Amino acid sequence: MTAQSPHRPSSGIDPTVATAAGMYDYYLGGRDNFASDRRAAHKVIAEAPEVLLLARENRRFLQRAVRFLAREAGIQQFLDIGTGLPTQGNVHEIAQDETSGARVVYVDSDPRVLAHSRALKASEAGTTSVITADLRDPDSILDHPDTHALIDFEQPMAVLLVAVLHFVGDDSDPYDIVDRLCAAMAPGSYLVISHVTADSRPEHAHGLKDVYRATKNPVTHRTFSEVDRFFQGLEYVAPGLVFVPSWRPDGASDVAPEEVWVLGGVGRKQ
Ligand SMILES: C[S@@+](CC[C@H](N)C(=O)[O-])C[C@H]1O[C@@H](n2cnc3c(N)ncnc32)[C@H](O)[C@@H]1O
Repeated sequence: MTAQSPHRPSSGIDPTVATAAGMYDYYLGGRDNFASDRRAAHKVIAEAPEVLLLARENRRFLQRAVRFLAREAGIQQFLDIGTGLPTQGNVHEIAQDETSGARVVYVDSDPRVLAHSRALKASEAGTTSVITADLRDPDSILDHPDTHALIDFEQPMAVLLVAVLHFVGDDSDPYDIVDRLCAAMAPGSYLVISHVTADSRPEHAHGLKDVYRATKNPVTHRTFSEVDRFFQGLEYVAPGLVFVPSWRPDGASDVAPEEVWVLGGVGRKQ
């Protein structure tokens, strides 16, 4: 955070209200969280102790998906919506490790992400940018000049909606939002989604939902078939929609996939 905009409400940053970005940073062991985030995170941990595992496995899924897209699918441009606060292994670091010209536009509705964005800026200037915008208004992202400066919509790209759609309630018509984003992608593009579900551990999932209700980012759980519906019209990359530890694991794991109640999948636009 800059010295000029410490936590003034005019910056849109209110340190007294927990946000999903701050709580997720805390789950991952980061240091960019406020006391309000930590208090809310502790309440979630009391209701659903496996949330720390969920955060770690979700992040690993994101990284494996980006590596697959850059290495095996030849994707060079990424629109990462719901970026979160910078941490280890950010999208541009993984993608540029595989393909040096990869470009990433990071988007988050929480102004704290932009305020902490130094780590999201690639040392190679002009290959990443960070914008504050809301997924519920997809045109504000698609029409943003910084998006157009880095993304060529005539070429295949990847849209990442990783652990963000569960923060979009049904009143905002999330299926329309995803359709709008997919319509903007060229054929050969990919959509990556991860999403919490109450299917496998309903009591814990509902405990988590109760705590998030008091934050800036209330949670909506969706069932397997409700998450699957986001991929309508796309072709799944194997293994399809699964609990995230089962999506192309890159090593032995002692995690039981269904204990990680986050579904993840990657779909290709024909
Ligand atoms: C759990 S974090 C996920 C971070 C990262 N995608 C990952 O999976 O590691 C969710 C992020 O989505 C952001 N978010 C929530 N609702 C959003 C919205 N409507 N538009 C854009 N970002 C949103 C939050 O601010 C937070 O940074």
